[in-house]
Amino acid sequence: MSAKKLKVFVTVKLPDSVETRLRELFDTTLCPDKRPMPRDKLLEAAQTAEVIVSSINDQIDADFFATAGEQLKMVANFGVGYDHIDIQSAADKGIIITNTPGVLTEDTAEMTMGLILAVARRFVEGAETVQRGEFSEWSPTFMMGRRIYGKRLGIIGMGRIGQALARRAKAFGMSVHYHNRKPVSARIAEEIGATYWDNLDDMLPRMDVVSVNCPRTSETFHLLNAERLGLLSPTAIIVNTARGEIIDETALAHLLREHKIAGVGLDVYERLPGINPELFGLPNAVLLPHMASSTIEARQDMGDRVILNIKTLQDGHRPPDRVIPAMI
Ligand code: 8YV
Repeated sequence: MSAKKLKVFVTVKLPDSVETRLRELFDTTLCPDKRPMPRDKLLEAAQTAEVIVSSINDQIDADFFATAGEQLKMVANFGVGYDHIDIQSAADKGIIITNTPGVLTEDTAEMTMGLILAVARRFVEGAETVQRGEFSEWSPTFMMGRRIYGKRLGIIGMGRIGQALARRAKAFGMSVHYHNRKPVSARIAEEIGATYWDNLDDMLPRMDVVSVNCPRTSETFHLLNAERLGLLSPTAIIVNTARGEIIDETALAHLLREHKIAGVGLDVYERLPGINPELFGLPNAVLLPHMASSTIEARQDMGDRVILNIKTLQDGHRPPDRVIPAMI
């Protein structure tokens, strides 16, 4: 069945192979620029495009939907998180929202495990010492980190990524604990051997490592505020590959500077641009540029999900990865 090609507008530079396929299948306007699309261009596109392919860089908020023309049918987000999209406003206007679930789970869990190791075992400090030509002799007390084998990992948010991290942590000999809105199914709990804490405040002081893996919602904004961060042991490590706004970054930097926690591994930040400069220059802060899902494989798979969602719509069916208000 050959339907009329949908008018697709892409707000971000995507891998070449994804862009080529988008051009083949749809009437596509690509974005050659790697930087975030200026707001006025995004709003302009909302008045002509039938589908917008968005990313975390775009604020798809109530104003966006108020500006959008009647022709806009769908926003296909290149990414799994949709905290930058006003799902209710989209639903009110009958605009479909899709995301890319499942395809970046393993990559994000890999990087989270990597961050835990990097902070605990001081990878970055060690590597930089060698790069600066400062390693000339071994000493028993040099670069001592902390063993993660046998330690307790507390995962906040036991969705797909939390579970993928739990499996890895188990293989590294950690004991897995988690806080979630509700416990995972008995089958998953048994496979992972994880302990459920319904009260986050009870879990935090008992953990050696805490990993943030929940989505950013109105309920999880500053979930780790100054008070909760204060519950952590001075030897604890925190990693965050979810969303920066879940941790109060100022309080975190303060605790780190005061040696009230042992280290942090961050891939995400409260504000971009504008990472809290207090985090810079600390040897026990491993700071990454939002790259947890950045593998060639994940980016291709994410592109494939975006294409599948648009193609399904073009063929007159309901796209598989719809995000609806009940999911928030
Ligand atoms: C993506 C992410 O790279 O998918 C997500 O929600 O946070 C990232 O890992 C980015 O959002 C792409 O838009």
